[in-house]
Amino acid sequence: MEAKLPENLPAHLGIIMDGNGRWAKKRGLPRSAGHAAGAANFKKLTRYCASIGIRYLTVYAFSTENWARPAEEVSALLVLFRQYLEEALRDFREDDIVVRFIGDTSAFPKKLQELIAETWEVSKDRKGMVLNIAMNYGGRAELVHAFQALARQVKEGALSPEEITEGLISGSLYTAGQPDPDLIIRPSGEHRTSNFLLWQSAYAEYVIMDILWPDFTPDDLNAALWEYANRSRRFGGV
Ligand code: FPP
Repeated sequence: MEAKLPENLPAHLGIIMDGNGRWAKKRGLPRSAGHAAGAANFKKLTRYCASIGIRYLTVYAFSTENWARPAEEVSALLVLFRQYLEEALRDFREDDIVVRFIGDTSAFPKKLQELIAETWEVSKDRKGMVLNIAMNYGGRAELVHAFQALARQVKEGALSPEEITEGLISGSLYTAGQPDPDLIIRPSGEHRTSNFLLWQSAYAEYVIMDILWPDFTPDDLNAALWEYANRSRRFGGV
């Protein structure tokens, strides 16, 4: 039987897919095995989110700081990204999911960049859930990128400093045109934002769950959705 879901689902859900390394360590496996399990779970949960009517899903796959991990772990992650995108192109044509990428993807190997461009190209006209995969993403780097673009416009005389509004800044981010995230779920029990959607999460509700990402199930997601639905969001009001 399908689990009952709350009526007010978040329009935009963010997930920090954390805990792959600890999941592997608990099993005496290399960290790359944790990432592989995390990638498999990511596929499952993405489809689940689309099936229940989430409009926007943003997942944190690789941060600007993740390059500092051992070279072996970084290359295992790059292989997983490539496999995922190849699979997405081969098998996911029936999925009504728009696959976008947020972050500076120009830092990735050329083949991965081509797959990123192709995945976006084949999915961009779909009408279903928008999936933002944050790759080489950092909230601060995103803001620097946006402010540089605005500063260039000011320098060219196309914009005056007074015209820089919150709306203009939102519209200069990778998530331009999308609603801000309503709910951000962080599995694995860490109480940190880790540079994820810094500007966009100003009024997001956070649900922290003590479950490692590869173990995170659709039922766990439902529990987070209920917790979100039962909170009262005041946006600074009363
Ligand atoms: C954090 O866990 C997770 C990552 C840095 C990578 C996330 C990647 C995936 C879930 C797999 C691939 C995704 C796609 C898009 C195919 P951690 O390694 O920091 O775990 P730990 O805190 O337990 O060490």
